[in-house]
Amino acid sequence: MIDILNSIKSDSISKINELDSLHELDQLKSFLLGKKSPLMDVLKDIPKIPLEKRPVIGKEANQLKQELTKRLNKKRDELINKERDDFLNQNQADVTLPTSGFPSGSYHPITIVTRYVCSILNRYGYAIKQGPNIETDFNNFEALNIGPNHPARDMHDTFYLKNKTVLRTHTSPVQIRTMLEQEPPIKIIAPGKVYRCDADTSHSPVFHQVEGLCVDKHITFSDLKGTLEAFLHELFGDEHAIRFRSSYFPFTEPSVEVDVSYTINGKTTWLEIMGAGMVQRNVFRQVSYDPDSYTGFAFGLGIERIAMILYKIDNIRLFYENDHRFLTQF
Ligand code: DAH
Repeated sequence: MIDILNSIKSDSISKINELDSLHELDQLKSFLLGKKSPLMDVLKDIPKIPLEKRPVIGKEANQLKQELTKRLNKKRDELINKERDDFLNQNQADVTLPTSGFPSGSYHPITIVTRYVCSILNRYGYAIKQGPNIETDFNNFEALNIGPNHPARDMHDTFYLKNKTVLRTHTSPVQIRTMLEQEPPIKIIAPGKVYRCDADTSHSPVFHQVEGLCVDKHITFSDLKGTLEAFLHELFGDEHAIRFRSSYFPFTEPSVEVDVSYTINGKTTWLEIMGAGMVQRNVFRQVSYDPDSYTGFAFGLGIERIAMILYKIDNIRLFYENDHRFLTQF
């Protein structure tokens, strides 16, 4: 009987070693350990052998059953790993194939127009200055001749913050920062975001301006007009008419607003794109410049408005919705 078990063992082990697939393994398992297997036959015949030999044969047969089960399980793990490796080898990614392509980024129209505006004014000798988005009440209003109860504060729909600070309502406070820091001559432009509590098709709570300031001895209104006319002509070409309209700002005197003709959906209208004027004497006093020695002009233009004219856009909100169909046109 022991001999039979030994031959079952060597026969079974060589069959297990030869296995090549999980399917074959399942078949072999039922052949080796199923009810009709040679090993089961031995177990069934145990009652027929002499009583004293039964424990030895029984023990041997059970050990063989355990060993074959162990070997089959080990083989199963090996075959699973082999099948996975074969699959991965046959299905390797070809990294040399061309991709389906992915879109490259582009500049936002507001960035394009801001850079365009700044590049023209840079050429006229204006240096770029920047100021913070959170401003003191002093820089945003008071030093610009807009006192605590000045009616012009109404126009600014301000987001007030703590400790007498505000989200700047315009880029004009950069004028004050510059003049507090340096003596004339000054020629700066200040691009940046500004904030107002305001929203409709032509107003957004966040928008963009470029401020300009030129201060020296003998600067006149003609300098202002000549500079802005040359600049606007470069910006818009001959296609758009430009008009200066007298206006009022507390920080300039005299003051103007500049409108540009704008045709959209077959209708021509004027769109206001900037305020400008000669720097008010009180502003010079606030920054300790002598208003009898120096004069200057300032201007502040709205980037969204200019972009709307250049690209014929009728709703300011398109700039902020981040719709790809819109953004990829620029
Ligand atoms: N800060 C003004 C505004 O946002 C625009 C402006 C007007 C700026 C006249 C100027 C200026 O520098 O001189 O409405």
